[in-house]
Amino acid sequence: MAGFSLEESAPKILGVSVLVVAFIYIIYPPGLLLIPLTIFVFAFATKNEKTSSKNVDTFFSGFKIGGHRGAPKSFPENSMAGFAQAKADGADLIEFDVALTKDGKAVLMHDDDLDRTTDLKGPIRDKTRAELDRCNISATFIRTAPGDHSRLGSVSRERVPDMEDVVRWAVENNTRMLFDVKDSDNELVDQIANLFQKYNLYDKAIVCSFFPWVVYRIKKGDQQILTGLTWRLKFWSYHDIENLRPRYSGPKQLLFAAIDVLHVWLLKRVTPWYLGADLLLTNNLDISQTLILDQKRRGMRVAVWTVNDMAEMHWMLETLKVPILTDYPELTKQAAHLEEVKKSNYMPMHKSSSDL
Ligand SMILES: *[C@@H]1O[C@H](CO)[C@@H](O)[C@H](O)[C@H]1NC(C)=O
Ligand SMILES: *[C@@H]1O[C@H](CO)[C@@H](O)[C@H](O)[C@H]1NC(C)=O
Repeated sequence: MAGFSLEESAPKILGVSVLVVAFIYIIYPPGLLLIPLTIFVFAFATKNEKTSSKNVDTFFSGFKIGGHRGAPKSFPENSMAGFAQAKADGADLIEFDVALTKDGKAVLMHDDDLDRTTDLKGPIRDKTRAELDRCNISATFIRTAPGDHSRLGSVSRERVPDMEDVVRWAVENNTRMLFDVKDSDNELVDQIANLFQKYNLYDKAIVCSFFPWVVYRIKKGDQQILTGLTWRLKFWSYHDIENLRPRYSGPKQLLFAAIDVLHVWLLKRVTPWYLGADLLLTNNLDISQTLILDQKRRGMRVAVWTVNDMAEMHWMLETLKVPILTDYPELTKQAAHLEEVKKSNYMPMHKSSSDL
């Protein structure tokens, strides 16, 4: 079942830590010096190794523009039609979200339930693959692609794709892949690792997650799999990128706000080293030249999600030279021809960003 839950564990971890420190302090105060030493030894003993740099270089040499869930303004997100459109629009990578059905089939779906993206309801974990086949992921979809009015309106029926079908398609069509994984379920992690072996995805795909323990487990299972840590400010304390919907209330919200500060501080310094991660998948509101240079110095790559504004695309692709994920892969061709945008005029816009 779903792995580690920070929500349940954070207060316990904090409580136990305080007790341990208090206990050591009472029986033998100098013993507190052993705590950092223990953490240090433990970290070295359990850390992951990084992937060989050859595969990392090959992967990133072919990744500039990623279709975020395909081409989600032209076709339903995470649909085969959307991936083909993203490629036709100039994307060299497709990003997708993986989930398991009740009968253990790995499929593509972003949310935990079917409500938003299909004409059925309920958690995906309660549906078998056969039941999922009855849902229509075009039913709630309306095209909003800019520029091309022939693309407006509804689209014909799309089904929830199998993870393996999408992987096979991407390999055949020479398109890189970014797997977005939200739980550390053994079964899902194993299925992803098997696909890496079966289709030799080691320089063609990367597995990313907001959850460090997912990145850790993937890399632990197969050191050659490229991995990335996805992040944004205040992820653990707010549901949404605008930071309007707190996840908790009262002291718990404060605890998770503190976890956020610590998490971001650590992920720029030690977390990727410990996880063996190759990429920091950074939100467009948190990107800067300094971050990119600093991470480069540490041997880390940086990519940006989700860049939908043309001037912003130009800035990322031409000035910062970082790969992007976008909902509008068709705009990237025009963006490349935009004139250099003066950095002083540049302000990232909240509305151009969506949840990963
Ligand atoms: C799926 O939804 C689309 C868009 O509303 C519709 O055109 C199509 O007929 C639906 N297909 C089925 C089989 O329900
Ligand atoms: C993807 O590859 C398949 C099989 O090689 C081919 O039939 C299809 O036309 C390709 N699609 C795109 C969008 O390139």
